[in-house]
Amino acid sequence: MTKRIGILTSGGDCAGLNATIRAVALRAHHGYGWTTIGIGRGTLGLLERPVEAVVLDPARLDSALARQGGTFLGSTNRGDPFAYPMPDGRLKDRSGEMVDGLKQLRLDGLIGVGGDGSLDILRRLLAPSGIPFVGVPKTIDNDVGQTERAVGYSTAVAIATEALDRLQPTGASHERVMVLEVMGRDAGHIAIAAGIAGAADVVLIPEVRWSLDRVAGHIARLRAEGRTSALVVVAEAAGQSDEASDAAADAPDHGVGEWLAKRLAKATGAEARATVLGHVQRGAMPTAEDRLLASALGVRAVDVLADGKGDRMVAWWNRQVIDVPLDKVVGRSRTVDPGGSLVRTARALGICLGDSA
Ligand code: F6P
Repeated sequence: MTKRIGILTSGGDCAGLNATIRAVALRAHHGYGWTTIGIGRGTLGLLERPVEAVVLDPARLDSALARQGGTFLGSTNRGDPFAYPMPDGRLKDRSGEMVDGLKQLRLDGLIGVGGDGSLDILRRLLAPSGIPFVGVPKTIDNDVGQTERAVGYSTAVAIATEALDRLQPTGASHERVMVLEVMGRDAGHIAIAAGIAGAADVVLIPEVRWSLDRVAGHIARLRAEGRTSALVVVAEAAGQSDEASDAAADAPDHGVGEWLAKRLAKATGAEARATVLGHVQRGAMPTAEDRLLASALGVRAVDVLADGKGDRMVAWWNRQVIDVPLDKVVGRSRTVDPGGSLVRTARALGICLGDSA
């Protein structure tokens, strides 16, 4: 009997989603003779009647798809089935409608590509349906537990690094402190990696407590040594780890880069400019590393379903693709280890993290 599996992308998009979808559909077809159904707009497609879904014809999943950013299926980070935002502002449990939508598709398994939050939601949604579920980790934030890499992270780091490459010469020409704000929600993975790769002078992340005085002191020392400009990378959530609790409380939810640049200009007397990289970090052609990861994880996700397993997430660990129980993943996000290799590398290179270490 031909099996039918579904795939959807959920949460914020990132580079490498199309490569993941392609890998799933190709593996399902060539490996097992299965049909893959692509569900539109994450969980939102499940609310439509008929359900918003298309059969993914392997002949049309050409190589161009592996290169494209975004997700051709669409995605949402607003479709929590258990607390769905209604037009009148109420939150309504619409999980039953979504499960009904899944049943209408007559699926024998579902692969969901998402971050920590999306995988948790999908897992809970699927539990009463009896449809086996396998998650593929994706997020530029790279904070999904039990995997060293999530799809999209490599590309985001490459873009943030390139931004530093472009900020350095203009900063040097005008003798400015250039602040680059990068994404990462509650984690500093993009900031610390791009900060090292892009040879930043300062990296501020939510996992390491920092103070403005120490950052200003570091920039003053650089100036005393003859440097006329500086590169500062700040993770979007770094406001919460400012040691001055008043300042942390004043840190804006958005625009931490501008906020920091103003304070640094005042503290150092230097001209400072902020660049907010924002969604540029998400909508790009995936790096080779992201395409490889997406392909390897997509193939494995189908194999896990073929093995008759569910409630699992495929993961990259120790140079291998593995699968792990989803209950070990959800609610356990993986932030930057303040004693880990990247933080130690940054310190060894003289990058200031704003702390007293
Ligand atoms: O989780 C991915 C992410 O890009 C975060 O880094 C960022 O905080 C958030 O999504 C932005 O969400 P939105 O696209 O809803 O503005």
